[in-house]
Amino acid sequence: MRPLLESDQLQKAIAQFAQTITEKYEGHSLMIVAILDGSLLFMADLIRQLKLPVQIATIHAKSYGQGTIREDLQIGFAHLPELKGKEVLLLDDIYDTGHTLSATHSLIKAKEPASLASVVLLRKHGRQEVEYEPDYHLFDINDEFVVGYGLDYRGDFRNLPYVAIMEPGDVLRQAQLR
Ligand code: IMP
Ligand code: MG
Repeated sequence: MRPLLESDQLQKAIAQFAQTITEKYEGHSLMIVAILDGSLLFMADLIRQLKLPVQIATIHAKSYGQGTIREDLQIGFAHLPELKGKEVLLLDDIYDTGHTLSATHSLIKAKEPASLASVVLLRKHGRQEVEYEPDYHLFDINDEFVVGYGLDYRGDFRNLPYVAIMEPGDVLRQAQLR
């Protein structure tokens, strides 16, 4: 596993982004809608840096792919509060093909928030399959499969405090550990 983004790089970028958001939404309260499970760590670190009244809500998005290939996308909205008239910031771990964020954005838009912006921690290059672009991304990365800081491979590695690139040998080793 090859480290790509160290913990302090992540924290520095998040602090900077928090400053941007604090300034942008000054005088308002902000509803953060996080797409779980991947954005759990990003959300937790970001909200602690925001100097605004903040509320949080979560959505579950699952692509029932095995391993690194995205298959069917399912989005679970069961626990969303009223979003009408609210300032909403949609948050995800990674923008890859873009289907998750694009579909989620449309569904939230239909709930008539006062404003809707989106942010991803990582934006992967050369994979995009939709028109929709996130308003903010903290890091640009190459087309490689990454894990850590919320991102998983088959449910594992979300707890790493840094982001690392999965290499073919890692996949094999992980399979042997199971
Ligand atoms: P998209 O719908 O293709 O943009 O994919 C978004 C989702 O796929 C993310 O929320 C992740 O859960 C997952 N994903 C995409 N690329 C990676 C990766 O490199 N590592 C881990 N998960 C990924
Ligand atoms: Mg995810």
